[in-house]
Amino acid sequence: MQFRPLKPEDKEAALAIAAETWDGEDYIHLVWDEWLNEEDGEFTAVLINGELVGYGKFTLLGPGEAWLHGARIKKERRGEGIGSGLLEYFLEKAKKDGVDVVRYAAHSSNEASINMARNRGARIAGKYHLFSRPLNAPTPESKTVPRRITEITPQIMEDISRSPFIKYGNGYMAANWQFRHLSQNSLEKYIEKGQIYSLHRGYILYTPPSSPNDFAYISSISGSLEVQNLLLNWTLNLSKKQKAGSVMVKIPSYPPLIQFFKRRGFLPWGKATEPDFLLLEFSVS
Ligand SMILES: CC(C)(COP(=O)(O)OP(=O)(O)OC[C@H]1O[C@@H](n2cnc3c(N)ncnc32)[C@H](O)[C@@H]1OP(=O)(O)O)[C@@H](O)C(=O)NCCC(=O)NCCS
Repeated sequence: MQFRPLKPEDKEAALAIAAETWDGEDYIHLVWDEWLNEEDGEFTAVLINGELVGYGKFTLLGPGEAWLHGARIKKERRGEGIGSGLLEYFLEKAKKDGVDVVRYAAHSSNEASINMARNRGARIAGKYHLFSRPLNAPTPESKTVPRRITEITPQIMEDISRSPFIKYGNGYMAANWQFRHLSQNSLEKYIEKGQIYSLHRGYILYTPPSSPNDFAYISSISGSLEVQNLLLNWTLNLSKKQKAGSVMVKIPSYPPLIQFFKRRGFLPWGKATEPDFLLLEFSVS
């Protein structure tokens, strides 16, 4: 197995591999240019006898923290150890680059993805339930306008750290499909693409849709129940204006939090009683 950064000329073969994944619903074509040109991290090809058989993305999230995503192995070559080989390459790269923690998320039914991590020392750092709310359903009116946060102060950090998402999510926060430990740095990074709104020391962490009909995301909501309701209604109306198709949320395994969203029209992605995604974490040292 050989590894090298993907090149523009690999695009056709790489997207053909992605097209075999998730019944053709794959997203690699949407991020191809961005990932290829990103300076932090590596979009890595796996070759066997010169043939592209798979690839994956190593993304540096912050100091000492990497995220793996976009692993795609050619369908007819799955189960031959290529995915595990790529994972070992990334863990080795993390060590060389001075990265302490490597994480990725896997669907709980993705045995190959989970096994290759568990067999290489990963721990399960979190379990998440995926819910989404279609925006064609009626949305309660919202008159209270929260304040948009542009700077993370120690008080804001402290308030957000009390969010049930953080408390019951072992300190992790989700930013779209990536999970990071809550910190000053991760919140500052978050507001580069996402938005934070505040009302009476309650907070909602929200990411707008990247294109019409795409998902908008809620990463965390906190404050008194009344404040959470106001923040949620305001955000649902905002995402409607921004032409999101629906609003997605990854909820840690804490039943009252799941109930909160269910009661407000959020529908489970999978079996609501079981987590949809596992967060896998490697300590590299
Ligand atoms: C998930 C994926 C990247 C794994 O790559 P792969 O080359 O098929 O996996 P490997 O052959 O290296 O096997 C990985 C591990 O899981 C085990 N495994 C492989 N296929 C398995 C299966 N169908 N069921 C259970 N375990 C399996 C292997 O024993 C191996 O463990 P080991 O290396 O410790 O022995 C690949 O199957 C793929 O591209 N799937 C579609 C896209 C995807 O799911 N991407 C990952 C998103 S998190």
